[in-house]
Amino acid sequence: MIEISTDRLVLKKTSKSDKDKELLVSRIGDWEVAKWLCNVPHPYTEDDAEAWFKTLHQKEFSLNVYLDNSLIGGIGLAQDEDKLYEFGYWLGRDYWGQGYATEAGKGLLHYATQKLSSPKIKANYMKGNVASANVLKKLGFNKVGEGKTYCVSRKEEVDCIHVALLKPIGLNKDNVIEAADRFNKKEEIWVPN
Ligand SMILES: CC(C)(COP(=O)(O)OP(=O)(O)OC[C@H]1O[C@@H](n2cnc3c(N)ncnc32)[C@H](O)[C@@H]1OP(=O)(O)O)[C@@H](O)C(=O)NCCC(=O)NCCS
Repeated sequence: MIEISTDRLVLKKTSKSDKDKELLVSRIGDWEVAKWLCNVPHPYTEDDAEAWFKTLHQKEFSLNVYLDNSLIGGIGLAQDEDKLYEFGYWLGRDYWGQGYATEAGKGLLHYATQKLSSPKIKANYMKGNVASANVLKKLGFNKVGEGKTYCVSRKEEVDCIHVALLKPIGLNKDNVIEAADRFNKKEEIWVPN
C-alpha cells in the first residue's frame, strides 16, 4: 500500500472510516472546492463518498492527503484511455495558502516517476483557477493547449487549460511550442526523471 511522507503531510489511501468519510464529505462538499473539480458531484453526499470508496481498489495512485492524521484533501494520478496519467488534487478550504498542495504534488510526482517507467503526466485546470495554475507552474508543468470539458459539479461545459510535465532542462519559448505540437500528436514528450 502506497504511503508517501513529505515534510508535513502523509499521502495514502483513505481508511474508509466514518471519520474519513465525514471529513471527505464536508471538505470536498464545499462549493469553493467542488466548483474547480470536473468529476466531483455537488452537493456531495455520503453515498457519493461510498461510491468513490468502492472504486478505489482500481486506482493505484488515488490518495488522500493527511495532516496530523486528519484527512485534509485528495491527490492522484489517473490513467486515461491514451495511457497518459492525469494529475489532480484538492484541499479543504481551511488548508489553502500554506504550500500544502505544492508539497503533496512534489511528493506524489517524485514517487510516481521513480515507480513508473517514463510516465507521461498531464493536468487540466479551469480558466480562472489561479491557485491551481500556480501550483502546476511550481511543479514544473507547462501549458500545452486549451479546450473545453464538462464539469460535473457546475453541470456545464467549462474552458480549461491543458498542461504537461515537460523536461525542465533547457525549456524555452521555442521548445515549449514544439512540445505543445508533439503533445497534440500524442507523442512521448516528457520524461520527468
Ligand atoms: C488549488 C489548491 C489545491 C491549492 O492549494 P494550496 O495548498 O493553497 O496551494 P499552494 O499553497 O501550494 O500554492 C498556491 C499558490 O497560488 C497562489 N495563489 C493562491 N490563490 C491565489 C490568487 N487568488 N491569486 C494569485 N495567487 C494565488 C499562492 O500564493 C501560492 O503561490 P506562492 O507559493 O507563489 O505564494 C486549492 O486552492 C484547492 O483545493 N482549490 C480547489 C480545488 C482545485 O482547484 N483543485 C485543482 C483542480 S485543477
